[in-house]
Amino acid sequence: MARYILVLLLGIVWVAAPVFEAPADTPIAAQRQEQLRHMLKHDCGSCHGMTMKGGLGSPLLPEALAGKSDDELVAVILDGRPGTPMPRWHPLLTAAEATWLVQTLRRGGVDQ
Ligand code: HEC
Repeated sequence: MARYILVLLLGIVWVAAPVFEAPADTPIAAQRQEQLRHMLKHDCGSCHGMTMKGGLGSPLLPEALAGKSDDELVAVILDGRPGTPMPRWHPLLTAAEATWLVQTLRRGGVDQ
C-alpha cells in the first residue's frame, strides 16, 4: 500500500514538474548547489569520470565544451542523447539546475 502511494506521488511530481518549473536563469540555493556538486562528481562522474576527463561518457572539460552552446548542452542534460547511454535527467534536474551544471563544467568542474 505504502509503495503504491509512493509510486502515485512520484507520478504526480513527474507530470506536474514542468508546470512548476523555474526559468533557466533562477539562482540555485546554496544547499542545492552542494547536492548538484555531489551529483556531478558521483552520478555524472560514473560515466564521464570523477574529474570529467571522460570514460563511457565523453569528456566534459572546458575545452571539450568550448565550441558548444549552453542551450545545446542544457538540452542534452535534460533530454539525454537518444541512441547513446546519456540518460535524460529531467525532471530530476530543472533547466536552471542544468544551466548551473553547464556553468560549473565550463569553470573546470566541482573542484575549481
Ligand atoms: C550512463 C552514463 C552517463 C551518465 C550517468 C551521464 N552521462 Fe552524460 N553522456 C554520456 C554519453 C555516453 C555521452 C556522449 C553521447 C554521444 O555519443 O554523443 C554523454 C554526453 C553528455 C553531454 C554532451 C557533451 C558534448 O560534448 O556534446 C553532456 C553535457 C553530458 N553528457 C552531461 C552529463 C551530466 C551533467 C550528467 C549528470 C547529471 C551526465 N552527463 C550523466 C553518458 C552518461
